[in-house]
Amino acid sequence: MDKYQLLNDKKTQAELGGGKDRIASQHKKGKLTARERVELLVDEGSFEEIGMFVEHRSKDFGLEKEIYLGDGVITGYATVNGRAIYLFSQDFTVFGGSLSETHAEKIVKIMDLAMRNGIPVIGLNDSGGARIQEGVVSLGGYADIFYRNTLASGVIPQISAILGPCAGGAVYSPAITDFIMMVENSSYMFVTGPNVVKTVTHEDVTSEELGGASAHGSKSGVTHLTYPNEVECINGIKKLLSYIPQNCEEQAPAFAYDLGDERREKLNSIIPANPSQPYDMREVIEEIADSESFFEIHKDFAENIVVGFARIAGRSIGIVANQPAVLAGVLDINSSRKGARFVRFCDCFNIPLLTLVDVPGFLPGTDQEWHGIITNGAKLLYAFSEATVPKITVITRKAYGGAYDVMNSKHIGADMNYAWPTAEIAVMGAKGAAEIIFKKEISSAENPAGKLDEMVANYTENFANPYKAAARGFVDEVIEPALTRQKLIRAFQVCETKAVKLPRKKHGNIPL
Ligand code: HXC
Repeated sequence: MDKYQLLNDKKTQAELGGGKDRIASQHKKGKLTARERVELLVDEGSFEEIGMFVEHRSKDFGLEKEIYLGDGVITGYATVNGRAIYLFSQDFTVFGGSLSETHAEKIVKIMDLAMRNGIPVIGLNDSGGARIQEGVVSLGGYADIFYRNTLASGVIPQISAILGPCAGGAVYSPAITDFIMMVENSSYMFVTGPNVVKTVTHEDVTSEELGGASAHGSKSGVTHLTYPNEVECINGIKKLLSYIPQNCEEQAPAFAYDLGDERREKLNSIIPANPSQPYDMREVIEEIADSESFFEIHKDFAENIVVGFARIAGRSIGIVANQPAVLAGVLDINSSRKGARFVRFCDCFNIPLLTLVDVPGFLPGTDQEWHGIITNGAKLLYAFSEATVPKITVITRKAYGGAYDVMNSKHIGADMNYAWPTAEIAVMGAKGAAEIIFKKEISSAENPAGKLDEMVANYTENFANPYKAAARGFVDEVIEPALTRQKLIRAFQVCETKAVKLPRKKHGNIPL
């Protein structure tokens, strides 16, 4: 046979994966094939495949007769919006995308190349887990990947899209990566599936309920982003990449921006006159950030804190904001975990942080205490303290108690701290404070309720404002809200050259 013909035939064979019938069955499930996904993700014509002709080495269970070129995973490099990425895309049509020794070797190879070259790795996961016929070599292959995920953590961004089943130990590679994305009704992640759950705990639960996009997007927080279909999910990867740098030595891409009138009048009217009335912190974010640039992460999980990327004058920032519209913006276990994880990502990859504060404190109760609000709240405190990127804080309203310290206060290394005139920076709310410190006066008064009101008013006037903190320099400036965007543009600009080093150590011991 003509040698070029042989090459072309092999390519055609590899491109067919598990064959036409299995491709049809993949489409029938509403799923794209591994190659279609790659095409959607990368710039047209930019994909360079590595290891197209890799074959598995199994001899058991008749597998030696079932060879599929590429062995169930497409690997290589490409560009997305002109920037390089390495990628792997598991092919469910070949042994259900299951991970064999050689399948793992292909993934390991591109991870090593990505590390050497300082380029993000995108994993498109669609796999039945360990290739059952191979046994322990498959488990070894997984561990080789987990190890590299860990070494790459904080060096290059790692993004995992879950586009099918992801079960057993296989979930732990995505779990170590920076972001997990899922698709509603076609992707699942669980350590043990519904059948095992039924046997062990007698719970009747579907795959979707147990480990679908909505379960992990809203209940467990395992997934950061969920999408109604694969096309939107892949667009989500591209969007995410636009906010982040290629590696920990680089800055995120900056977009051209011409400064104009940066005053945003609407900011003056967002805080309600009544301090106990909620408002949506996203409205504040929309006004502060460049138009339509806010990209929310973990949107449906721990909604009492809002985190996400945005741009300010064309530059990427990470935003961590209390959300007064949900549970009054209180900090609890999940919101602390969510905030901490995001802060650490931004710090790994040189993305400056903006913190918007309206927090009444930590959530009280046995549930929170017994599940470790102390350890979990400390994660957020630790993450902010440890972050050396530019850190700027705006207190819009409440900054009470320990939560004041935690939310990127001056004391834990913020570079600039602003407060709006509506800010209340105090140990606690006026009523709670008055009830404690004026307990005797109130109980011995002829009209205790009237006395309480008087003392609350007294406390409010003296303490529920930003000026005590400003007098100490804990707040650098009390600003008219409409000027916030302009102030932030300048403050982030002057911090661009920030250079802070942590004390020399092997690594810190964040309270996990
Ligand atoms: C080998 C597998 C496979 C696997 C699926 N296939 N999973 N082959 N090893 N793990 C094959 C099937 O035999 C079938 O081959 C094809 O892939 C499609 O599978 P179906 O079952 O027909 O598809 P579907 O109905 O969509 O179900 C998908 C599935 C199911 C939910 C993933 O196949 C399944 O439960 N598979 C086993 C999952 C599992 O237990 N994996 C091990 C987890 S433990 P044909 O030839 O018919 O097309 C693990 C340990 C990791 O992963 C540890 C790391 C530390």
